Amino acid sequence: MYELNELETIVKKCHGCPLFKTRTNVVFGEGKEENQIMFIGEGPGYHEDQTGRPFVGRAGELFDRMLDAVDLTREEVYIANIVKCRPPNNRNPFEEECRSCIEFLRWQVKIINPDILVCLGSVSARNILQSDFKITKNRGVWYKKGKFNIIATYHPAAILRDEKKKKAAWEDFKSIRNLYDSMKNK
Ligand code: URA
Repeated sequence: MYELNELETIVKKCHGCPLFKTRTNVVFGEGKEENQIMFIGEGPGYHEDQTGRPFVGRAGELFDRMLDAVDLTREEVYIANIVKCRPPNNRNPFEEECRSCIEFLRWQVKIINPDILVCLGSVSARNILQSDFKITKNRGVWYKKGKFNIIATYHPAAILRDEKKKKAAWEDFKSIRNLYDSMKNK
């Protein structure tokens, strides 16, 4: 078993897929090891690539507001992505890129050992839950895989493109908050 910082060092040197050629920074993820909720996005965008931090662009600002709306802070959650390097022009990561990178996410999940996993958007849900996952139909549903409670909701970037998705995402965040509370009270 790696320590989280050892894993980060390995990931930062990764040449496992062509995305390393165009990255500025690897976006490993951030949060405390003991945090119980892990959010998993798709991959870094421009601002994340520039800073090496997840969800710091416009979608990240909305994500912060969504956390705040259910009384959560970044410090209380762990944030990672399916791919750790930015796909050029913010295209969706290719399947081979996801396949090559997801091993790192598996290690991250093993180390952090969260109770709750939240897939942000369909790329994340398809890699974590089911390859044909339909976000519009199956978001907001809790799945149990081993010890993990997993839910998918809209990606904040999708909400920015279509405000109508906001209400459903808000319901999902409340559901996440409720499960988190019920676990803390055990
Ligand atoms: N979108 C993602 O999926 N992840 C980030 O880190 C930023 C934007």
